[in-house]
Amino acid sequence: MATKIEDEVNDVVVVKRDLTALELPTAMPVPVKAGLEGVVAAESQISAVDGLNGTLSYRGIDIGQFAQHATYEETVYLLWTGKLPTRVQLTEFAGRMVAEREIDESIQHLLTIIPRTITPINALRTAVSALSGLEEDTDDRAPEVNQAKALRLTAKFPTIVASYHRCRLGLERVAPDPDLSHAANFLYMLHGKRPTPQVARAMDLIMLLLSDHGFNASTFAARVTASTLSDMYAAVTTALGTLKGPLHGGANHRSMQMLLEIGSIDNAEPYIDAALAEKRRIMGFGHRVYRQTSDPRCVYVRRMLYEVCEELGDMYWYELAVTIEEMMAIKRGLFPNVDFYSAPLMYLLGLPLDLFVPLFAISRVPGWTAHIMEQYEHNRLFRPVCAYTGYRNRAYVPIEER
Ligand SMILES: CC(C)(COP(=O)(O)OP(=O)(O)OC[C@H]1O[C@@H](n2cnc3c(N)ncnc32)[C@H](O)[C@@H]1OP(=O)(O)O)[C@@H](O)C(=O)NCCC(=O)NCCS
Repeated sequence: MATKIEDEVNDVVVVKRDLTALELPTAMPVPVKAGLEGVVAAESQISAVDGLNGTLSYRGIDIGQFAQHATYEETVYLLWTGKLPTRVQLTEFAGRMVAEREIDESIQHLLTIIPRTITPINALRTAVSALSGLEEDTDDRAPEVNQAKALRLTAKFPTIVASYHRCRLGLERVAPDPDLSHAANFLYMLHGKRPTPQVARAMDLIMLLLSDHGFNASTFAARVTASTLSDMYAAVTTALGTLKGPLHGGANHRSMQMLLEIGSIDNAEPYIDAALAEKRRIMGFGHRVYRQTSDPRCVYVRRMLYEVCEELGDMYWYELAVTIEEMMAIKRGLFPNVDFYSAPLMYLLGLPLDLFVPLFAISRVPGWTAHIMEQYEHNRLFRPVCAYTGYRNRAYVPIEER
């Protein structure tokens, strides 16, 4: 028996259930928080997502500072160590990332023999599982071993994605270029030519803005796996499986599909009206945490989209996106999330739609691994309970009598 009641503390509707239907040995009815909304699952010192004020900070520093001054490598260093690197430390760190970019021949071969119908994000997940076999001891969770694993995973993600992409197109793979930054090198391995500084900076910005975001679904999934004391590769594989869903990382791809379907600024309003009337979700809008405010990452991605469009001499994608943003605010009071503006930006950087989620994964793997390491440091197994609402005390009917 379930009854809907107002939760005064959190101002959300929760469902209180008959206590006999609970797994818990408790005399008190326990509220069910659908989607774990508002539930504080653990402490973390990596990134702070403030839904009330619409801010995001990494290790206490507002993302705006990174968007204006930092590189992806610098951001990764901070996420893992909690400190901003000196110039010497950053050079040494970036050098270690470069040294780990190449992937073993067995992984290169694997990418050529898996079915071409496998999507790039699933190919990446498969390759990460296989990569675990190249560790001396996959289950070794010593902090320094995990730091090395995190660096290897982060360094190799772009190489795996670019190699698989070129392989499925029947093109020769392009080996990593040690002289290029992490972001520029990814574009180089993908397209076979070095990006302009502006394009490389746009990619770097997307990557650093996506590198961590509190207890989002994939990060939480990674922490759940880590909490069983399973290894880092297993936890990252879990995260990859979680990221690709359309309500999470898969939204940017679908957001771009929508923008392409809309096709013109004049068609934006009829399209959005029809979609809302059919109760379809507009991908790239809404957020579990930023409900009353815009996603703080949008400002920087929108500005970069403006700059890239200006450089190309064609403002179409920027104008279309801004038109839809204004429309959604008026019609539904919904704000865009980072996926909405990063979709046309990724498109203009030459990424095919099914590489949008892999790019999200490439950007987010430092965040996942930072959280996995934090989980190991103060581990307690995640094991919530469910409110059982199924049948009880049913008689078993022998098969002959059914
Ligand atoms: C992100 C998301 C999953 C958050 O979901 P949530 O916190 O569970 O929010 P809810 O699904 O309860 O939505 C609350 C209300 O807003 C509406 N809503 C939320 N996002 C919407 C969207 N993108 N388009 C249309 N309506 C939306 C819901 O229909 C619901 O309305 P209702 O109360 O009248 O039924 C949701 O906003 C969504 O599906 N967005 C599109 C996918 C996306 O962009 N994901 C990337 C997230 S970074």
